[in-house]
Amino acid sequence: MSNKLNVVVVDDEIVNLLLLESILSKDEYKNVFTFDNPLEALEYIKNNKTDVLVTDFNMPQMNGIELLKETKAIYPDLVSIMITANNNNEVMYEALEVGVTEFLMKPVSPVIFKLRFKNILELKASLKLTQNFNRLLNEKVEETTALLKKSEYEALEVLSKAAEHKDPETASHIARVSHYSKLLAKAYGLSKEEQDIIYYAAPLHDIGKIGIHDNILLKPGKLTKEEFTQMQEHSSIGGSILHGRENPYLQAGEVVALTHHERYNGKGYPKGLQGKDIPLYGRIVAVADVFDALTSKRPYKEAWSFEKALNLLIEEKERHFDPQIVEYFVENLDEVKRIYKRFQED
Ligand SMILES: [Fe+2]
Ligand SMILES: [Fe+2]
Repeated sequence: MSNKLNVVVVDDEIVNLLLLESILSKDEYKNVFTFDNPLEALEYIKNNKTDVLVTDFNMPQMNGIELLKETKAIYPDLVSIMITANNNNEVMYEALEVGVTEFLMKPVSPVIFKLRFKNILELKASLKLTQNFNRLLNEKVEETTALLKKSEYEALEVLSKAAEHKDPETASHIARVSHYSKLLAKAYGLSKEEQDIIYYAAPLHDIGKIGIHDNILLKPGKLTKEEFTQMQEHSSIGGSILHGRENPYLQAGEVVALTHHERYNGKGYPKGLQGKDIPLYGRIVAVADVFDALTSKRPYKEAWSFEKALNLLIEEKERHFDPQIVEYFVENLDEVKRIYKRFQED
């Protein structure tokens, strides 16, 4: 596409048209297209990029303001000169309202027209400059935001990786819990942004296990009552590790760590929250985490079959889990199965 400005000149009086054309005359900066009929001009404008419109006001087929209005609707950045026969205020108001850039009185003085036209071109150039500047600025902001996001994700990954070294649960468990949680968030109708937040926050659910003794964490057999009480501490430890951060992923991580062992019937821990008092992220990760723990092999148990684990979720509706979230899980079984198969242990 050429960088030349396209100038459309419209006047029903051929003499005027020829005069304007001769003043403007084509050069390396602009193409000039003349029309003695505004309807033909409009047809041309609809099909060809138009930067500048020079138009007479009084024309039999369509007046200059109508033409300007239609042209502006297609090219909001259009600059324009309206030529009027007299000092009619009504016409000037109307033209200004439509967004005309300059007025000229008939008879047109070549010197004034030249100067006015020069003004208009400068205006057009500075508009273009501003637009380019805004575009560049936007690109820069997007770039910086992406970079910032990337470093946020990296920090989260470091945190999850650190926890992994302590926790016998595997990387594929973490990945599946993230994907199940995101799927449930989507089914729940949460925004893309919130789906993204829970996806990155879910891996932090057991971060508090960093604070649990290895002899409890890695014990192959059943835990004693006292050991189990200590093990339960991982929720509040995780919550306190992540507490008080500005980063939305860490904030969500705190919620998830603190509430993923709460139960819908109020019999969970650490607080015994009930029903919808349990934050949504906690209710979602609870379903994702338990389902995946059941279908995974652990030092102390074999992996349950997909169907058996699913039946447990359904049985535990209202008791352990938010029934609505279990329903979303069941409604999206195809996608659940895809995730289940995609991230298998090595
Ligand atoms: Fe946990
Ligand atoms: Fe887990």
